[in-house]
Amino acid sequence: MLPPLLLLPLLAWLLLARASPVAPPQSVDYAAPSAFPTSLWQSYFLSPADAHMTAVPRPAVSDVAHTRVFGDALATAQITGAPSRDAVFPRPSSAPAANLTETVLANLTSLIRANTGNDSCATCLSALALGQTLARSAPHHVPGVLQTLCERFAFLGTASGLALSDVCRRTYAPAALGASYTQVLSYANLTSASADGCYLCHYVAKGACPLPAPRVFDAAFLDAWFGGASKRAALTRRQLAPRSPATPGKTLRVLHFSDIHVDPRFLVGAEARCTSGQCCRAESFNSSVAAAPPLSREQPLPAANVSETAVYWGNYKCDSPWSLALSALEAVKHVNGKAVDMSLYTGDMVTHDAVWHISRELVRYTQQAMYDVFKRLLGSGPVFSAIGNHDTAPSDFASPSSLPDDTRGQFSYDWLNLRRLFVAEGWFTHAEAQQVGRHYGGFSVSPRQGLRVVVLNTDFWYRGNVYNYLNSSAPDISGNLKWLTHELEGAEKRGERVWIVGHVLTGWDGSNGLDNPTTLFHHIVAHFSPKTIAHIFFGHTHEDQFSVFFPQAANSTSNATALAPAHEAQAVAFMAPSITPGSNVNSAFRIYTVTEGTWEVHDYDEYYADVSSFPELPGTDHGPVWRHLYSAREAYSNFSASAAAGNYSGQVPLASGQWPASAPLNATFWAALTDEMWARPALVDTFRERQGRNSPRARQCASQACRDAMVCYMRSADGVEGKRCPSGDGFASVQG
Ligand SMILES: *[C@@H]1O[C@H](CO)[C@@H](O)[C@H](O)[C@H]1NC(C)=O
Ligand SMILES: *[C@@H]1O[C@H](CO)[C@@H](O)[C@H](O)[C@H]1NC(C)=O
Ligand SMILES: *[C@@H]1O[C@H](CO)[C@@H](O)[C@H](O)[C@H]1NC(C)=O
Ligand SMILES: *[C@@H]1O[C@H](CO)[C@@H](O)[C@H](O)[C@H]1NC(C)=O
Ligand SMILES: *[C@@H]1O[C@H](CO)[C@@H](O)[C@H](O)[C@H]1NC(C)=O
Ligand SMILES: *[C@@H]1O[C@H](CO)[C@@H](O)[C@H](O)[C@H]1NC(C)=O
Ligand SMILES: *[C@@H]1O[C@H](CO)[C@@H](O)[C@H](O)[C@H]1NC(C)=O
Ligand SMILES: *[C@@H]1O[C@H](CO)[C@@H](O)[C@H](O)[C@H]1NC(C)=O
Ligand SMILES: *[C@@H]1O[C@H](CO)[C@@H](O)[C@H](O)[C@H]1NC(C)=O
Ligand SMILES: *[C@@H]1O[C@H](CO)[C@@H](O)[C@H](O)[C@H]1NC(C)=O
Ligand SMILES: *[C@@H]1O[C@H](CO)[C@@H](O)[C@H](O)[C@H]1NC(C)=O
Ligand SMILES: *[C@@H]1O[C@H](CO)[C@@H](O)[C@H](O)[C@H]1NC(C)=O
Repeated sequence: MLPPLLLLPLLAWLLLARASPVAPPQSVDYAAPSAFPTSLWQSYFLSPADAHMTAVPRPAVSDVAHTRVFGDALATAQITGAPSRDAVFPRPSSAPAANLTETVLANLTSLIRANTGNDSCATCLSALALGQTLARSAPHHVPGVLQTLCERFAFLGTASGLALSDVCRRTYAPAALGASYTQVLSYANLTSASADGCYLCHYVAKGACPLPAPRVFDAAFLDAWFGGASKRAALTRRQLAPRSPATPGKTLRVLHFSDIHVDPRFLVGAEARCTSGQCCRAESFNSSVAAAPPLSREQPLPAANVSETAVYWGNYKCDSPWSLALSALEAVKHVNGKAVDMSLYTGDMVTHDAVWHISRELVRYTQQAMYDVFKRLLGSGPVFSAIGNHDTAPSDFASPSSLPDDTRGQFSYDWLNLRRLFVAEGWFTHAEAQQVGRHYGGFSVSPRQGLRVVVLNTDFWYRGNVYNYLNSSAPDISGNLKWLTHELEGAEKRGERVWIVGHVLTGWDGSNGLDNPTTLFHHIVAHFSPKTIAHIFFGHTHEDQFSVFFPQAANSTSNATALAPAHEAQAVAFMAPSITPGSNVNSAFRIYTVTEGTWEVHDYDEYYADVSSFPELPGTDHGPVWRHLYSAREAYSNFSASAAAGNYSGQVPLASGQWPASAPLNATFWAALTDEMWARPALVDTFRERQGRNSPRARQCASQACRDAMVCYMRSADGVEGKRCPSGDGFASVQG
């Protein structure tokens, strides 16, 4: 059922469509206008009034102080990457021995040559120890040694079309990975009693060492964490107090959107099916029809050398052009009938690109441009935004403030930029914004009486963040989890309910979230759910997913959660779909209906644009059509099959086999949905189609083994649980 206001854009579209030779699409929710919303920026570097849509306009974006305009080079092929002044090296702790660099390089070379593959772990650990000697006395020499070894042993691939020596030089340049790797080498605890080396060898050296066993958080640890045994026992008895909505029946509409990854270098006409990484840029090519163009190329390859052409509204293997990102944001108020009351953005604004194209300047430019348009297109409701692993330079990295010297504040340029932006956009007071600098871009605010939103920088449990391998057995080197616990205690005292918002998910197949910090997070969630924590919101995977949090079997290595009944579920995390189609998915966002007072999700509606229709759009009088894909309640609340089999374990009485209309879509609901999926495997297939929003490029999951694995992922809340689920090619993700 469409709310009446949705009919307005529909009618407007039908009137316009009469002039169009193209048959009108079925069940249209909102057709974006074809014209670029040029009023969003005051000026443009490139603003073609071009009916053929041969280029995407390039806005001139002013910085937050309006003192300068970000350079057009960020959006063109000449982009040179991070300037060397962005590189931060550790201080040397001793003077280098004579010829140290040469000896270390020579010794590393013989070590790697002697590696038969029989004991790659020992080889890798010895190599780290040698690297540490150099990093501690001649840190500036480390990038050069990495570059030489990379070239000598072909550490990196050359799909980009660059020569190996060029790829190595650019990748390990100080301001790319070189200086960060030097810090990690210098600060890691490489004694045999520490796991730092094994983690580095597992995650950075492609599995050279096995993954260290996860830490068990025993009763003594948890008692200490939660302020003593008696306090912890009181916490474990917490139940959800019945609450009556502040204004009975009043609901809010809350946008959850994620992973826009806007690509300012998107080039219409470029190769969209490239073999060279992220596509649709001047240098993209498909090796079966073209040779690698030089990086300085500014024009698309000749049409004969392009296998699929990048089109104005975007393509499956490409990040969002401005045109697509803006059409999604414009669609929100139309599909919703009015501006949303509030928005949660779960991270990743910056495009995927080679490490040598990512810079602090690109991060600041993207944040500035995107937050400005959020403000203008989403209305006055605040946008609470989490930092994603791509929203830093270098990508994936964030360092704890416990690091010494210059390395302590190396990412503060980013947190301070966000702090200024959140105030400038009118979402935060100065006092609220102070937290953003202290918590690595995170913050805790109460936008409505009784609701608290805690936003975390989840890079501190992301496997791609090499700084997490320092003090690797310590689960909270950033202090974020201690701070979260403190915020939850405060919220509980005040009777608030909390939404935890972040980018990288903790559970599903366990491939993204590190075992120790995500397991501690799970313990924290268990202790404050369901009473205080209402919901958890993540992004990152670009796919529609959810994770149910069950109580942990503290030291069990078996699969306790796989068998737990639904009524024991404590919390649920929602993973939002992406706006970027860049991983072969259709572009999408969702809007929750939230009950005021309980702050629980009553339903959500998901909207998507079919990227395979984009090549047909230029020449018509409209842009992408944003359609209603599904309502969660309509799609998933029929539990008849599991109820008939006697396997419905939610305990909430059903109404004719359906989840009651008055009950929220809380953790019990999502856990009971997994009962239903076991009873009705076709429901997993439906879920799977929505994971990629009906993308024709989505990988299928048609075997029962894959379906079982999917249900296991839905019931996995942390890295350890996720890794205990079965794995298989294409099981966890629709992306090919
Ligand atoms: C350092 O290397 C140079 C040439 O590579 C060599 O002549 C010299 O003896 C070396 N010094 C030491 C102390 O090893
Ligand atoms: C390099 O290897 C040689 C021979 O094994 C050894 O004498 C020397 O101490 C090593 N140098 C370093 C810096 O590890
Ligand atoms: C691995 O080690 C074993 C015993 O140490 C040896 O027999 C075998 O040849 C080695 N394999 C390789 C490939 O080096
Ligand atoms: C290195 O790790 C071990 C094991 O956790 C610990 O005992 C030792 O104190 C650590 N060393 C430093 C310098 O922190
Ligand atoms: C490259 O182009 C060929 C021919 O058009 C196509 O079959 C192939 O899938 C493309 N490669 C990629 C990685 O998309
Ligand atoms: C384009 O394709 C033609 C025909 O296959 C080939 O001869 C030419 O080298 C290609 N050009 C580029 C830039 O790859
Ligand atoms: C690692 O632990 C040591 C000892 O507890 C501490 O001094 C150091 O700051 C920690 N390093 C990081 C990166 O947190
Ligand atoms: C694991 O759990 C069992 C029973 O629940 C208990 O007896 C045992 O002491 C626990 N082991 C550890 C290491 O906590
Ligand atoms: C979910 O809602 C139902 C119905 O209100 C309630 O009985 C159940 O306890 C709730 N579950 C959680 C985890 O809050
Ligand atoms: C619920 O699903 C069952 C089959 O599992 C079907 O027979 C029934 O009609 C469905 N109920 C509704 C209200 O859709
Ligand atoms: C119901 O649960 C039992 C025991 O877990 C299981 O063997 C059976 O396959 C389930 N039936 C359905 C229809 O899910
Ligand atoms: C975990 O549970 C799934 C079923 O949901 C099962 O297929 C898998 O084998 C279990 N893994 C372990 C280690 O028990």
